[in-house]
Amino acid sequence: MKVTVIGSGYVGLVTGACLADVGNDVLCLDIDPAKIALLEAGGICIYEPGLDEIIKKNVAAGRLNFTTDVKRAVEFGTLQLIAVGTPPDEDGSADLQYVLGAARNIGKYMTDYKVVVDKSTVPVGTATKVEAVIRAELDRRSADIEFSVVSNPEFLKEGVAIEDFMRPDRIVIGSDDPNAIHIMRTLYAPFQRKHDRLLIMDSRSAELTKYAANAMLATRISFMNELALLSEKLGTDIELVRQGIGSDMRIGWHFLYPGCGYGGSCFPKDIQALLRTAAAVGGELKVLTAVEQANERQKSVLVDKVVARFGPDLTGLTFALWGLAFKPDTDDMREAPSRVIIAALLRLGAKVVAYDPAAIDEARRVFSHHDGQLSYAAHPMVALDDSDALIIATEWKEFRSPDFDAIKARLRNPVIFDGRNIFDLHDDGLKGIEYFGIGRASR
Ligand code: UGA
Repeated sequence: MKVTVIGSGYVGLVTGACLADVGNDVLCLDIDPAKIALLEAGGICIYEPGLDEIIKKNVAAGRLNFTTDVKRAVEFGTLQLIAVGTPPDEDGSADLQYVLGAARNIGKYMTDYKVVVDKSTVPVGTATKVEAVIRAELDRRSADIEFSVVSNPEFLKEGVAIEDFMRPDRIVIGSDDPNAIHIMRTLYAPFQRKHDRLLIMDSRSAELTKYAANAMLATRISFMNELALLSEKLGTDIELVRQGIGSDMRIGWHFLYPGCGYGGSCFPKDIQALLRTAAAVGGELKVLTAVEQANERQKSVLVDKVVARFGPDLTGLTFALWGLAFKPDTDDMREAPSRVIIAALLRLGAKVVAYDPAAIDEARRVFSHHDGQLSYAAHPMVALDDSDALIIATEWKEFRSPDFDAIKARLRNPVIFDGRNIFDLHDDGLKGIEYFGIGRASR
């Protein structure tokens, strides 16, 4: 099939590359000429394991192409996948200007039947708006061309996006048009594996499904984080409690890990947007409001522990910080807990030496005005030299089994604040180290 992907960001690139990989002809559009030039030259502007190989392979095979030419892109695909950003407006609701701009261009340049697919995370009712915008453009041109708008939200996780796309749990299709549903079924046939993964529903329910999924996941995390704080007061170990409840099939193991707060480009933004959606129809999501508040508090928990240990004035102290990205296997620092932790430590007078396997360049950009107090190490162990304590903010695999003797030798005080509970409390390596985790006894 001929597929146009509008927006070559995270979702657009992964979608375009994976659809090309199963044999479709894909043209990815972006308004940023520098981004397209880089992609055409075989480069890639985001960090996602496996994505560069799959792009290179499909570009070489001629199935994946890039363009900044809007007219060419609209004319190309029978399927027009909209995968542009929906950043938060000033009031937290999703800003639809890019989605509706893409719809306008489709209406302006289309010459034959199109299935227009909303892949971006968009509020309930957006498919109807997209349809109206395309219809208005066609009317302006006095063109009578058929099209259908389908909601097809994306559930990719950063870091495992290729795997998620190639082996989806479910594919949500919001449409009541049998022809469009048939085309979507054909598009996704290679990803169906043994079971039918397609869930067909009305477009509004499909749109809400996406927000409901992220809101539910964030709720689990905030709930566990609150239980972790309670655990500290009660002298219980949240990790044992987590295992104790996760084994109940109705609860399950996933997304029960307490930590120093969730971040990323999706959960915080989508929760805000869903709260706005609810408010707009006179609804109130009390649980979700609390989820957000609990997460804001959680991002400060490690700094509270540092202050409890070292006092409120951190002048003259240096902290090694492992993990800048909002989670492992990404260089993304959007809404990352590390940002809140670093900002607070610097405010309290401390110096920070940070290490991350992928996000140091991004951190330099984010903290460009903090030269002096904040520096970066090229190796996790080097960050420890002349530091008073180690703070772990992201659970990268390479942090899980460190040389504890080297940590003890390098740190001025062998103190670890583990924001992701990556160490086993009973690990012999921790002997001689003051250890503070989340929701468990310190030792
Ligand atoms: C999230 C969803 O998981 C995807 O299904 C969804 O498609 C995506 O948002 C989106 O809306 O586009 P992502 O933002 O990549 O994906 O990250 P997650 O893996 O969900 O992690 C989110 C945050 O929760 C991270 O900061 C992570 O450290 C934190 N987390 C996760 C916990 O603190 N505890 C857990 O048990 C799990």
